[in-house]
Amino acid sequence: MGWKQNSLTARLGIQYPIFQAPMAGGLTTPELISGVSNCGGLGNMGAGYMMPDDIRADIKQVRELTDQPFGINLFVPDRDVSAKTEDIIAMGTVLERYSSELGMAEKPALPEKDYTSLYKKQLAVLMEERVPVCSFTFGIPDSTDISELKKQGTVIIGTATNVNEAVEWEEAGADMIVVQGFEAGGHRGTFHRGESGQIGSMALIPQAADAVSCPVAAAGGIMDARGIAAAMILGAEGVQLGTAFLTCRESGAHPLYKQALLNAREDQTAVTKAFSGKPARGIRNQFMEDMQGVPALPYPLQNDLTAPIRKQAAKMGRPEFMSLWAGQGVGLSEEVTVKELMIKLVKGTEALLEK
Ligand SMILES: Cc1cc2nc3c(=O)[nH]c(=O)nc-3n(C[C@H](O)[C@H](O)[C@H](O)COP(=O)(O)O)c2cc1C
Repeated sequence: MGWKQNSLTARLGIQYPIFQAPMAGGLTTPELISGVSNCGGLGNMGAGYMMPDDIRADIKQVRELTDQPFGINLFVPDRDVSAKTEDIIAMGTVLERYSSELGMAEKPALPEKDYTSLYKKQLAVLMEERVPVCSFTFGIPDSTDISELKKQGTVIIGTATNVNEAVEWEEAGADMIVVQGFEAGGHRGTFHRGESGQIGSMALIPQAADAVSCPVAAAGGIMDARGIAAAMILGAEGVQLGTAFLTCRESGAHPLYKQALLNAREDQTAVTKAFSGKPARGIRNQFMEDMQGVPALPYPLQNDLTAPIRKQAAKMGRPEFMSLWAGQGVGLSEEVTVKELMIKLVKGTEALLEK
């Protein structure tokens, strides 16, 4: 079997084993998702932060733009997230310098939110809409939810950042597993506490591929055909690219974020908990530098506390206070359309692997 016809593409019913990563935060527009799927890859919606009705509306739009498979990604919430009131107040005080610098009238404060019920409502939409593919990060859903989704024919994709997590996902019923190397942009999907999920893709891909029998897709630092070919040779049957799709015309990234990606070098990213409370890789900026050494609240409390500041920073064109998630391959970012990028990836990989 060639690189295109394998058990991953067969299971998904797609032409090329190339996933556009789900990226939460308004980045994966219906135009981006459908563009990737229409070019024979798998477009994915980063729905982790989305309200259930917005997910439904975007699914409808994607379906109007493509008849090809696409995926929806959710964040599996941690149980019992809490922080001491005094720690929340202290973090609010730390963050006040940013809210006042940005001219915000409201002091940073936590909204009332029930994270588990939001996730359950998001899941309900995915079941009602009978979406072709569901992927998850930050954990493994309850077995009843997995079997419900599988019963209706939804393909389940898990996210793992080490071999143990990949094995646990396979036991839980994943049809395929995205293994996220440490180069990756955005949040680490690590859910096994106390184990390292900081393994480079070159080491992670073959060890994960050996440990599970379902197909593995590689994520982290893959920006072009060379990365795709390398991942396939290391044992992956597919790839998931995030950063490379952010600078597509169809992505929802803020123009200043796109500019930062196009200007960044490979040594300018770092992993930080400062924005959300969970480790995530982005382009180093003033907020990340300032917050070094300041202990963050647990995810998603830190995320909710900093979200209004980041939103206001985006509105005011202040990238030094925005989260500029990016992988270590960021130096290879290009201003392209999704179709141009997909053609380049497919033709380039064909040239490398079908020689
Ligand atoms: C801006 C951004 C947002 C992301 N959001 C999500 C997400 O919502 N869910 C998810 O499973 N992965 C998310 N990721 C991680 C990607 O799935 C993937 O692991 C990563 O982009 C691969 O590394 P690369 O950016 O170097 O291609 C995000 C990545 C980025 C860059």
